[in-house]
Amino acid sequence: MNTTASTPAATSAPTSAPTSPPTSAGTSSLTGAVREHAGPDIWCEDLVRIYSTEGVEVQALQGLNLVVDPGDVVALVGASGSGKSTLLGILSGLDRPTGGRARVAGVDLLTMSRAQRVDYQRHVVGFVWQQTSRNLLPFLSAADNVALPMVITGRRERTGRVTELLELLGVADCADRRPAQLSGGQQQRVAIATALANSPAVLLADEPTGELDDAASEQVLEAMRAAAGELGTTVLVVTHDPTVSDHVRRTVQIRDGRTSTEVLRQKVVGADGVERTVAREYTVIDRAGRIQLPRQHVEELGLHDRVRIAKESSHVQVWPDDQDHHLTGAEGEETR
Ligand SMILES: Nc1ncnc2c1ncn2[C@@H]1O[C@H](COP(=O)(O)OP(=O)(O)OP(=O)(O)O)[C@@H](O)[C@H]1O
Ligand SMILES: [Mg+2]
Repeated sequence: MNTTASTPAATSAPTSAPTSPPTSAGTSSLTGAVREHAGPDIWCEDLVRIYSTEGVEVQALQGLNLVVDPGDVVALVGASGSGKSTLLGILSGLDRPTGGRARVAGVDLLTMSRAQRVDYQRHVVGFVWQQTSRNLLPFLSAADNVALPMVITGRRERTGRVTELLELLGVADCADRRPAQLSGGQQQRVAIATALANSPAVLLADEPTGELDDAASEQVLEAMRAAAGELGTTVLVVTHDPTVSDHVRRTVQIRDGRTSTEVLRQKVVGADGVERTVAREYTVIDRAGRIQLPRQHVEELGLHDRVRIAKESSHVQVWPDDQDHHLTGAEGEETR
């Protein structure tokens, strides 16, 4: 994945031409995520979604850029109404963007036909909703729920895969129970197993732990991360849970319909030989060079309307409008 993280806009459009045979990751006998494309699993450029209801327009996505590489697990955070579910709706193929470009596992989401969309939802993406009741059919056992997507696609050797997926998610003992006989956390783990049944390249989850208490949330997120790691599945998980960041290497923040900042966690070995996790925050810059300054900086420094920018040899400084005496002699400064 991009270690610079904030340069999705610098990535050129990936091709959909397969360059390598389908791959599967992990050490188990389970078939992992199937990929027949080169490049990132999620690629969005200048994505726009405008809702128009009764003459009122809401710009839910305002030129969003995001790149997620195969096998990465990314948390998507942001205030209510910032556009998280809108993005997942588009990536899942349930909704169409108003503008911009988006590819998931090499599939162009703007140009796909109705038939391709059905195929896409069956094979390429898996989805887990916040509402536990929305993920599983109430009259089927956990095992039959997991088997159902494979029945629909005519996949063979289902029984063994159902058992292995339930084991992978730590709910093998729940196989014969119906959703009403399971806890919320168990239901969500069965839902993840169901979403992974047809070996999707990408798993999308919209607040999968939103209805769970802290302990159950922790278990579900860890199970999801472990399963994705085992199968090589790319995960984009929307969450309000601040502890989620501890479970993922990359956290992307959406603000006003755009990706604004990212936190990357990397393991580094210090001079003392001890391994530590270092978290570093980046600000996303788009193709046009636009960035969103952190709200805290904007407020503390009283930045508004316009700022002054000074380029140093290795970085750029941003000054409030009333601080221009600092810029005397700086690039672009005219002395009268
Ligand atoms: N179907 C719709 N019709 C009109 N406006 C919509 C629709 N869906 C979402 N919106 C608006 O788009 C914006 C983004 O909504 P979205 O549901 O993506 O936010 P969110 O980040 O998922 O919020 P939350 O954390 O509360 O789930 C909001 O202003 C919302 O009111
Ligand atoms: Mg939402």
